[in-house]
Amino acid sequence: MKSRLQEIKNKAESEIPSAKTEDEISDIRIKYLGRKGTLTLLLKDLSSLPPDERKEIGKSSNELKNWIEDNLNQKQKEIKGKGVEGLKKGFFDITLHGKQTVIGNIHPLTKVLNEVIDIFIGMGFTVAEGPEIELDYYNFEALNIPKDHPARDMQDTFYITDDVILRTHTSPVQIRIMEKCSPPLKIIAPGKVYRCDADVTHSPMFHQIEGFMVDRDITFGDLKGILELFVHQFFGKDIDLRFRPSFFPFTEPSAEVDIRCVICKGSGCRVCKGTGWLEILGSGMIDPAVFSYVKYNPEEWTGFAFGMGIERIAMLKYGVDDIRLFYENDLRFLKQF
Ligand code: DAH
Repeated sequence: MKSRLQEIKNKAESEIPSAKTEDEISDIRIKYLGRKGTLTLLLKDLSSLPPDERKEIGKSSNELKNWIEDNLNQKQKEIKGKGVEGLKKGFFDITLHGKQTVIGNIHPLTKVLNEVIDIFIGMGFTVAEGPEIELDYYNFEALNIPKDHPARDMQDTFYITDDVILRTHTSPVQIRIMEKCSPPLKIIAPGKVYRCDADVTHSPMFHQIEGFMVDRDITFGDLKGILELFVHQFFGKDIDLRFRPSFFPFTEPSAEVDIRCVICKGSGCRVCKGTGWLEILGSGMIDPAVFSYVKYNPEEWTGFAFGMGIERIAMLKYGVDDIRLFYENDLRFLKQF
């Protein structure tokens, strides 16, 4: 054992002085003192020695351990010092480039979504979420769209089973929240939705944000006020908007909101199909039939709801003419936002 200790010392004596970097120092440290280091392993064999020999060898092993550590520390200091010395002597070329860090940026859809959420939070709304794999009951039935209702054809549904689907809109979150909470409510619900549809303005997966408010004496005037404020904050103060009568099974009366075409400013172009207006969302007063599914008394409570596509308003705001650009992850596109 004594000779093995001497052997280790000899080796360390030649290796430590020739180390040139801090990494090399660290390698040497591991080689001798690490968990599987030569000296560590030798110390493990101590127990097999007779007691008085054990004492003597134990002592020299510890001395060797300290000796190696001291020498390594000393050498490490030397190497560090050389770096600073080099710097003082103008050894380093300070004009060399540093390591470049590539800074990413927030995806345009996330940016738009966050912006919309911020605007509604500013008006006192709270964010809620619901499942993307949804029951037929929440996606259709409780929104006043029974099984044979023609409105089901408006949305090309992905079915998982007869009762389980990928949600086609964020409106089912209305039902889930109203089932659990009592009014007054002021909720927005962003998320992914799915429809079997794909072209330059449609994607099988896209994002919507739903909003609704239920309280005593809520009127169509409240709906108009909130949505007008939203449009002016999101698209700018001088954007005109109009409420156009429409139909949704879960609202009565219903309206779609159009904004003055952001491309031609109203004179008529390809994007607005010559009308001068662009549809941005659907809305209306929550139908009393919907309230009956969640056991709200329609004599006591009224409310409005609205839903809009995030891709659509992002395309209008930034003049993007192909929805697929959002999903291709082409950095030349993503970097522009
Ligand atoms: N869920 C509708 C859709 O996806 C949008 C919508 C219309 C939501 C009217 C609403 C609403 O809350 O009141 O086409």
